Parts: sequence; C-alpha cells; structure tokens
Amino acid sequence: MNSNNQPTSAITFAMTGASGAPYGLHLLTQLTKYYQQVHVVISKAARVVLATESAMKLPESPQKAQALLTEYCQCEESVIQVYSSENWFSPIASGSAAPKQMVICPASMGCVSAIANGASDTLLERAADVVIKEKGQLLILPREMPFSTIHLRNLLTLSEAGAVIMPTCPGFYNGPESIQDLIDFVSARVLNHLGIDNQLSGSWGYSEKNKT
Ligand SMILES: Cc1cc2nc3c(=O)[nH]c(=O)nc-3n(C[C@H](O)[C@H](O)[C@H](O)COP(=O)(O)O)c2cc1C
Repeated sequence: MNSNNQPTSAITFAMTGASGAPYGLHLLTQLTKYYQQVHVVISKAARVVLATESAMKLPESPQKAQALLTEYCQCEESVIQVYSSENWFSPIASGSAAPKQMVICPASMGCVSAIANGASDTLLERAADVVIKEKGQLLILPREMPFSTIHLRNLLTLSEAGAVIMPTCPGFYNGPESIQDLIDFVSARVLNHLGIDNQLSGSWGYSEKNKT
C-alpha cells in the first residue's frame, strides 16, 4: 500500500463494456503515475464502448493495445502490461503472483454477475476471483441505471465477499464546472481507497465554500 505517495509495486486494472470509458481511461492514466506495473485486461465489449465514447480505437492485439495505452498514458514502456482474455499464464491468473489490488472501471452488469458467481471464464473474471480468494482489495465501479434486483443481489454478494462497490456516481458538493471535474471526483475516490494521496478533487469539509 502507498502511505507516503511513493510508487507501489503492482495493481490489476480492468475495463468492461459498461458506459463510462472516460472514467476508465482517466483512472488508468492516474494509476500509471503511482504503480511500477499496471496489469491491464480489457473485455471485447469494453473496446466497443471505448470506440463509442472516446476517440480510442483499441486494437485486439495485446501488444498493440499496450503500445497505444502506454502512449495515451504517457508512461514508461514497462508500466502497462496488457493481456488477452485467455492468457491463463499471466501473473494475474494465480494467487501466487497476482497483485493484491484490482480495480474494475467501468464494470458491466455482465462482469458483476460472472464474478459474483465465480465463473472465472475469462482472465478478467479469474483475476477478480483470485483477488477475492486471496483477500485482496477489489474495487468495482458498476454502471447501470436502474439496477435490477438481480444486479443488486450480485453487487451485495460481491460486497459480502469483501469487494468495495464504488458506483460511478460523482458528487456535486464541490462545485464541478466540467465533465473532467466529475471524472476527477471518481478517480480521486478510487485513489483514496487504494491509499494514494492525491489532489484531484477536494475532500469533504476542506472546500473554500465550507469555511465559515
Ligand atoms: C455503448 C455501450 C454501452 C453499454 N453500457 C452498458 C452499461 O452502462 N452497463 C452495462 O452493464 N452494460 C452496458 N453495455 C452492455 C455490455 O457491454 C454487455 O452486456 C457486454 O456483454 C458486457 O461484457 P463484458 O462484461 O465482458 O464487458 C453497453 C454496451 C455498449 C455497446
């Protein structure tokens, strides 16, 4: 964990096919500033959402995707490692090597269901399963509206298994003026949960507006 804002070793980052690609891209960029290695898995549906909601056309090839994301995040080449969805030999597929922290942003209801039911059918699902079984820190940023009873049951199951459910719901109490402010809010809350001090968004009670 990062207690002094120093780079920590490794984290797993996943994007799935829920709306909110800008949240995912921003969070990934932030993580590359704090971690020496960010293991990345991106579902097929997430690539469709990325193309729909951002200017990024992410190639299917993990090597090409890695190069593009490295350029996008402007980080060193060794930081981002992208894996295909069936790369069972990657470190994140095993409790003996996987980082203890994983973030899924955005998280589709499909992936929430698969993880809640222990499917482990793709590397992304397996990586989440590993973090849960190893009692690591799994942060899930679901996006759907409204949530059905089935979605809520699956999210409850994941919460009971130790995951932290952090919906992509930015607050408005700090006076956001742009979409970027809203994105910063969500990234800041995630970084806080990972133990990383950051100045992305004001904390409750520290706003100029709240000073009397
Ligand atoms: C542009 C677009 C937006 C979508 N938004 C959502 C969403 O907000 N939440 C959700 O659960 N699924 C959403 N979906 C549907 C998922 O992508 C779909 O259920 C997919 O099978 C999820 O697969 P994955 O979990 O492997 O990424 C969206 C799909 C597209 C193409």
